[in-house]
Amino acid sequence: MRLKDKVAIITGGARGIGEATAKKFVEEGAKVVIADINEKELLETEEFLKELGGDVMSIVVDVTDSASVNNMIEKTVQKYGRLDCIVNNAGITMDSTLLKMSEEQWDKVIDVNLKGVFLCGQAAAKVMVNQGSGVILSASSVVGLYGNFGQTNYAATKWGVIGMTKTWAKELGKKGVRANAVAPGFIATPMVAKMPENVVDMMKGKAPLGRLGEPEEIANAYAFLASDEASFITGACLEVTGGVVL
Ligand code: NAI
Repeated sequence: MRLKDKVAIITGGARGIGEATAKKFVEEGAKVVIADINEKELLETEEFLKELGGDVMSIVVDVTDSASVNNMIEKTVQKYGRLDCIVNNAGITMDSTLLKMSEEQWDKVIDVNLKGVFLCGQAAAKVMVNQGSGVILSASSVVGLYGNFGQTNYAATKWGVIGMTKTWAKELGKKGVRANAVAPGFIATPMVAKMPENVVDMMKGKAPLGRLGEPEEIANAYAFLASDEASFITGACLEVTGGVVL
């Protein structure tokens, strides 16, 4: 019960890594708010987590919209009285090579993966600074660190998340707030299911562990970083990649 009675918001919590993270946080004793733009999957996940005995609330949010983000934070504080952790996990891909990428593909991915993390991080930080404690965790990617064919937009956002995280660590550390990123490798979720099979096979082949990661393996990293066991870790980007870039 490493997160006993801590209050956590997980954006993109309806499925994939976000859902696995919500389940892990519930198992570790946290009160969990799952927030997502996909209402149908969100409600299914809320039901699943409640069946496990979780103290869970779901909120429909569009992380690109500041009013929607503020509503998510307000409802969380109204219900649970505080906010100990936010996992800025919502993210999208819209892939194209540089020569073919449209302005729309660029703008949409920047909006969700970069502006979304900024808006959620900022709104959460206001509550955390007031209470004198908190942890902001954000989804980067191995693609942010090393680039990837067809992902100019996505790579820019995931590298940007690391820059924001380091900045927040510097700005907020003395106010009791830690900020860290997690850079997953290739993880078996609906996002990766969209990738061509030969690319996925190539990634498996490149990884010393010889397989995709499971969403639970990223959830474990978030749970550790959210817990007091990580009390001296801030400004870090934890790579959870199966060694794919070695
Ligand atoms: P996913 O596509 O399975 O889930 C993403 C969730 O975010 C969905 O439920 C979606 O509805 C939600 N979402 C999208 N736009 C939103 C918005 N505007 N407002 C609120 N919610 C929104 O993705 P997955 O694979 O679980 O990835 C989660 C995070 O981890 C993403 O940030 C992704 O970039 C990152 N990541 C994933 C990797 C992978 O291999 N699956 C590798 C590295 C990073």
